[in-house]
Amino acid sequence: MSPPRTGPVGVGVIGAGVISHQYLENLTRFPDVNVLFVADLDVERAKVQAETFGVPRGGTVAELLAVPEIEIVVNLTIPAAHVQVGEQILAAGKHVWSEKPFALDRETGRQLLDEAARLGLRVASAPDTILGAGLQNAQRTIEAGRIGTPRNGLVLFQSPGPESWHPSPEFLFDVGAGPLFDMGPYYLTALVQLLGPVARAKGTSSTSRQTRVIGSGPRAGTEFDVRVPTHHGALLEFASGAAAQVTFSFESHLKRTLLEVTGADGTLVLPDPNTFDGASHLWSAGAEEAEVLEATGSTFSRGTGVLELARAIRADRPERARGELAYHVLDVMISIGESAEAGRAVDVLSTAVVPDTLPTDWDPTASTL
Ligand SMILES: NC(=O)c1ccc[n+]([C@@H]2O[C@H](COP(=O)([O-])OP(=O)(O)OC[C@H]3O[C@@H](n4cnc5c(N)ncnc54)[C@H](O)[C@@H]3O)[C@@H](O)[C@H]2O)c1
Repeated sequence: MSPPRTGPVGVGVIGAGVISHQYLENLTRFPDVNVLFVADLDVERAKVQAETFGVPRGGTVAELLAVPEIEIVVNLTIPAAHVQVGEQILAAGKHVWSEKPFALDRETGRQLLDEAARLGLRVASAPDTILGAGLQNAQRTIEAGRIGTPRNGLVLFQSPGPESWHPSPEFLFDVGAGPLFDMGPYYLTALVQLLGPVARAKGTSSTSRQTRVIGSGPRAGTEFDVRVPTHHGALLEFASGAAAQVTFSFESHLKRTLLEVTGADGTLVLPDPNTFDGASHLWSAGAEEAEVLEATGSTFSRGTGVLELARAIRADRPERARGELAYHVLDVMISIGESAEAGRAVDVLSTAVVPDTLPTDWDPTASTL
């Protein structure tokens, strides 16, 4: 057996599209990881991204997977490719960080996690917003008992849809996306972080329009098919006995987001869980106004979870944005969809461990490895 590796962790990135900018901007600033390669089916795009961010090499997926110094591969492909690319990464003996949703169905998601376990490798997954100062602050506030035992949650994500700004939005209206699978992971992972695992779901869904039109980029004006529901409402029951009402919609002409958790002693209004920062507002019993709880901790955005995974690998401890947590959230989303189709509640059979909060002085810019 080769000796355990030491020092900064080698990282490769597969998928050089829209979100790769944010990942590369952050990952290239963290001393504990070393970004060595960017790959894409579109090799030119990969090379441009590598050059833009000072990454030594850009090229094909096979070339990336052949680099021995790469230990974690960040999978930023579209949802339909996540499992297949994840399997390739594991087969090359490397750990996976996946964008969300890490799989489209329970079977292939479970297979990917089982294969990783068999090989002694890890699969971790977005969203890593749960590690940002905003949600960490909220988790600490609830764990400190400031609202009493959390009893219920309220989530609203409503927008007209992302086709106005994303230059290739078809995948956002296909299996694996829509408002539930695209935005659900942020809100549902935060709810699990605060209320624990979900036990039952009852959902409804609808589709307002069968086609949409691309609003930006070189293909602006092109019509494409909508293949998934564009509005979901659901009631969730948690194993703890808590409950939540959630709405995920690409049908509303009013943009609005809300994430709120209530206990016997207070109501906590959280920042947007698709961000890494923001104060929480605590309405204590009888208070005339909210107490503003400023967030403390890291406000670096996407890539934070990759760094936390890298440090966990070196420390030989579990990472926080675990594959099992992503699997549970996937299971909840699938259950909401199944329930809407069947017209009855669906039991959620998987579970998840709530990740520990990070130390308040956890610093992505520190060189610790
Ligand atoms: N765009 C955002 O704001 C955003 C935010 C958070 C998370 N995400 C997630 O990130 C992922 C990517 O989103 P995006 O907006 O960057 O998409 P994108 O379409 O802009 O980019 C995806 C890239 O992956 C490449 N690709 C697809 N299949 C591949 C394969 N098999 N092998 C190698 N490369 C492949 C494509 O060529 C493309 O360059 C999605 O899972 C999405 O949900 C996106």
